[in-house]
This record gives sequence, C-alpha cells and structure tokens, in this order.
Amino acid sequence: MKTIAAALAVCAWFLVVSVVLAQSQNSDKPAGGATPSYDPSVYAELQKASKKARGRTNPLENDPDAVAAGAILFEQHCAECHGKSAEATRKAPSLRAPEVQNATPGTLFWLLTNGVVRKNMPVWSKLPEPQRWQLVRYIKSLGVSVPEAGSPAPKP
Ligand code: HEC
Repeated sequence: MKTIAAALAVCAWFLVVSVVLAQSQNSDKPAGGATPSYDPSVYAELQKASKKARGRTNPLENDPDAVAAGAILFEQHCAECHGKSAEATRKAPSLRAPEVQNATPGTLFWLLTNGVVRKNMPVWSKLPEPQRWQLVRYIKSLGVSVPEAGSPAPKP
C-alpha cells in the first residue's frame, strides 16, 4: 500500500512540474513568437519606382495638419494589416523599417497608388491624391525603428 502511495505521489509531482513548465513556456511566447520577424527583402517593391515617381515632392510637405489627417486615414485603412502604429502584424510588414522611412515621399506615394496586389498590399488609387500624400506624411513622421532587436542592420 505504501509503495502505491509513494508512486502516486511521484506521478503527481511530475504532473505539477510539467504543467508549471508548460505554462512558463507559454507565457514566454507573446514576447517573441507574436512579433513578425524583420525581413528587408519584403520591401523590394519600393525599388521599382521610376525616377520620375521617386522625384515627386509632397505638395503637403509643409501642411501642418497633414500628419494628423494621415493618422486618421491610417487607422481607417491600414492599421488592420500594418498594426495600429505601423509596427507590423502577421498580415503586413512594419512601416518603420529603414527601407520605408528612407524612401522618398514620391516613392511611397507611387507605392500607395499602385499597391503590391500579388502580395496582398491593396491599391489605394481610390483615395484622393491629397489623402495619399497625407498618409505619406504620417508614415514619414513615425521615424525608423527596426522591429526585432538582434536582427542584422540593413545596409543603407
Ligand atoms: C490587406 C492588408 C493591407 C492593407 C489594408 C494595407 N497594406 Fe500595406 N502592405 C501589405 C502587405 C502584405 C505588404 C507587403 C507587400 C510586399 O511584400 O511587397 C504591404 C506593404 C506596404 C508598404 C511597403 C512596400 C513594400 O514594398 O512592401 C507600404 C509603404 C504600405 N504597405 C503602406 C500601406 C498604407 C499606407 C496602407 C493604408 C492606406 C496599407 N499599406 C494598407 C498589406 C496591407
């Protein structure tokens, strides 16, 4: 009888330990696992803008209200894929990456106008041009922050 009780106690102990271990592993996950990794090649499309498209200047460059207006548009149209503050989700990459932040306003406008349809980035030509330029101002206002610490620094 005693040995059975001892065996049961040992089993129970292993059960508790494995549950605790499993929980601690799970609680680690959201920190690492949920953050999409940073992959510079995602942004290759931006390189395809023509010289003319790149060189277009933002007519709202000095409009004091453009960033705030762009933020509202972003929330309405873009946040569901790119994240509330453009930090990336599983659906779409971060817009705070250097590839985006260092692109000219004209390049970003061109990208919004044409989309990357085969990769699920919609075309935004239905938004009036001033709204697209407002979005460009908003994106540019975010500044660079590379999503994952420890990922290799992209070449400029
Ligand atoms: C349905 C999901 C979705 C929505 C909504 C969306 N995007 Fe994207 N976006 C993507 C995906 C996916 C990519 C990556 C495309 C690729 O691989 O080139 C992307 C890429 C981009 C890029 C980087 C270009 C590149 O080469 O990857 C910019 C800039 C961008 N989106 C801006 C926006 C803005 C601004 C809006 C709102 C007007 C928006 N997106 C709405 C899915 C979305």
